[in-house]
Amino acid sequence: MLDEPTMTGTNGGAQFFDALGDVQSDSLLALIAMANADTRSDKIDVGVGVYRDGVGNTPILRAVKKAEKLLWETQQTKSYIGGFGDRRYTELLRPIVLGRHAGDDRIVGLHTPGGCGALSLGFKLIAAAHPGSKVLVGTPTWPNHVPVIEAAGLNIAQYPYYERLQTCIRFDAMMDAFDGAGAGDVVLLHGCCHNPTGADLDEDQWRSVVEMVSRKGLIPLVDIAYQGLGRGFAEDAAGLHLLLDACDEVVIAQSCDKNFGVYRDRVGSLFLKTGSAAASKRTMDHVVQIAREMWSMPPDHGAACVRIVLDTPDLRADWDVEVGEMRNRINRIRARIAGADPRLAYIGGQFGMFSMLPLSPEQVHKLRDDHAIYMADSGRFNVIGMADHAVDRFIGAVVEAMNG
Ligand SMILES: Cc1ncc(COP(=O)(O)O)c(C=O)c1O
Repeated sequence: MLDEPTMTGTNGGAQFFDALGDVQSDSLLALIAMANADTRSDKIDVGVGVYRDGVGNTPILRAVKKAEKLLWETQQTKSYIGGFGDRRYTELLRPIVLGRHAGDDRIVGLHTPGGCGALSLGFKLIAAAHPGSKVLVGTPTWPNHVPVIEAAGLNIAQYPYYERLQTCIRFDAMMDAFDGAGAGDVVLLHGCCHNPTGADLDEDQWRSVVEMVSRKGLIPLVDIAYQGLGRGFAEDAAGLHLLLDACDEVVIAQSCDKNFGVYRDRVGSLFLKTGSAAASKRTMDHVVQIAREMWSMPPDHGAACVRIVLDTPDLRADWDVEVGEMRNRINRIRARIAGADPRLAYIGGQFGMFSMLPLSPEQVHKLRDDHAIYMADSGRFNVIGMADHAVDRFIGAVVEAMNG
């Protein structure tokens, strides 16, 4: 028998990685940990950003479950799939994401690991084309946008987007910021269901933004991670389609993780529009090379399931029904909260999973301590983070906090 190795012979002086210091913890992850540790049986966790049904579960969609079964029965190999990932998946997404632009051969796409992968890839491509470019980012925005942009070596300029206490979009200030930007600056826009505010541009506002972006020669990057969960598939991409009408160069970072409920399977895509089909093809060669350096090829399973759903008529029809159910539940709970108090009425005119309450961090902490209700210090909460039976208790506690 071989002697057990001992660890007594190491040099005992490992300090190389000490240079890294502490990570500044992501406040949302800390919030999830705090909620998980709370043992009160009636706790409400509206911090985490996933869909929950009437009884508080995040279910696997019926259509996805059936697609997984079909995949298991029919998949013959798990050999490498190539840098584009599942090409049929990306092709099937085109009419959903691009609408009337689906047939435009200047728009090319590829499969990415989730919306995050698409964002990273899009910003790295921009950095490859124009190192150090400026990216205009709305405040507030999804907290991961800024690190992803900075990691690509790009510079951030903020534009005002939403006034939390007034509960309104700062449209004029935003347009002034765009007006002050220069040709070739990048502007990050949320396609729909703005995270964290729920405040989406209306059609007139989109038209003004499109006119400004086009006239100033800005490069729009549209993050569309919640299509179908706001008003409907076409409606949620209407602003994006207007941009595609007017601009020759557009970058689109898309996610299927929410509208297919496949969060952990990491399913997204990056679409690019350039001035010609030849330029798009050439640009896509760079995209594939950058992806090769980051993840080589995207994970296959989730996108294969999405492909099967979209390619199988009865699964496709059922998925439409299921997305409709999710959307209706979101909007029903929004209406319920909005109807409870005039100060919450604005929530009924917002879209998607998130809105922000006009509460101070102290009020948010009091909700946590007194009512076991967990939300971000900013007052951002997940509208459908709670089961049906918890909605009235949530509303009562929020109204009490606003009164106090
Ligand atoms: C605005 C926004 N963009 C992108 C993403 C990333 O989505 P994914 O989980 O597909 O990476 C999210 C996820 O929360 C998001 O809220």
